Amino acid sequence: MGIVTIELGPRSYSVHVGEGLLDEAGRICRAARLTGRAAVVSDRKVDDLYGGRVSNALAKEGIKVSNHLVDPGELSKSFEVAASLCEDFARHGVDRHSFVLALGGGVVGDLAGFAAAVYYRGVPVVQVPTTIMAQVDSSVGGKTGINLSAGKNLVGAFHQPVAVIADTTTLGTLGRREWNEGFAEVIKYGVIREKALLSDLQSGTFDLPELVRRCVEIKASFVQEDERETTGTRALLNFGHTIGHAIEAVAGYGSLLHGEAVALGMVAAAQVSAKRAGLPKEELEELVRAIRRFDLPTELPDRLSRSQILERIFSDKKFVNGKIRFVVTPGLGNALLADNVTMDDLEFGLSALDPSPR
Ligand code: NAD
Ligand code: GLY
Repeated sequence: MGIVTIELGPRSYSVHVGEGLLDEAGRICRAARLTGRAAVVSDRKVDDLYGGRVSNALAKEGIKVSNHLVDPGELSKSFEVAASLCEDFARHGVDRHSFVLALGGGVVGDLAGFAAAVYYRGVPVVQVPTTIMAQVDSSVGGKTGINLSAGKNLVGAFHQPVAVIADTTTLGTLGRREWNEGFAEVIKYGVIREKALLSDLQSGTFDLPELVRRCVEIKASFVQEDERETTGTRALLNFGHTIGHAIEAVAGYGSLLHGEAVALGMVAAAQVSAKRAGLPKEELEELVRAIRRFDLPTELPDRLSRSQILERIFSDKKFVNGKIRFVVTPGLGNALLADNVTMDDLEFGLSALDPSPR
């Protein structure tokens, strides 16, 4: 088992990574000094698989549990579902001494984390991520939120968890598509910080708990330096996300998985990087190979309107004098915020996603 400490002064916490940790959830919550009852939030699929084990682990430590279920999928990241979750908390006597435990993928983590941030003006949250996406990325760093029709994660709060429990054996039940999409964020870490990750992914020579731990350490380094994304450091974690989020929204939430949209966004961002930041062609190709290795898309489905995607970016992001702040990579393993990227550059990046003639 590995523990990565996220050093944020009074908001510091441990990320526990290892096999079989679900059964340790009660002990870890106690060690995080949680004493009240637990409101366990999950989606129906994950609850069927793991809800019982987590409830037992909490009960073993004398922690009272109520269960709160939502439908699986991105559409649950909404005001309506967040409101009904909070109403359900109230019906079950969840109070200011209670804590929320988010058991599931990034959707459950973002939604339950948001509910925890606002319920009683904030109760503690423990993140128990069960997808690769959530273990390597979304459960760490305190970003919580829901979507609006105008864009992803437009309503939210920074609310750091008091503990993260990443049991890597839960990843064994992921469907193929959900398994693959999580690697989009692992590839992102390879692009922005640790190039060796890409070769390890390509050769398949990685141990899953170790890979999750390495990714959490990378994420920790960005979050510790810039917890609230004010200096530009944490923004580097958004490589591929400006275009990816727009694609995800235009496709319709839940149509493309988050990692699939990010994969497309990374290919486009790599093209912009080649044009604006000198990313060598061989490295761009290495990135595309890594994405394909996990059967992630590199071509935009025909039905998605390019102009709608560009409009979405335009309305979502701030352009100053026709330029946008955009994360580019001048070379794999390194990223920076460019302030000279234009709408034409984004259109150029997007055109690289046109299906190749067959
Ligand atoms: P998800 O939560 O929708 O999970 C994908 C599917 O896998 C769901 O159907 C779920 O029921 C199922 N599932 C989850 N765990 C399972 C398991 N162990 N076995 C079998 N099935 C399982 O999707 P996700 O990719 O985990 O998360 C995507 C979300 O995360 C997006 O909303 C994205 O915006 C968000 N995100 C947030 C951050 C952040 O910093 N807060 C970072 C990255 C992504
Ligand atoms: N996933 C981006 C961030 O946490 O900042």
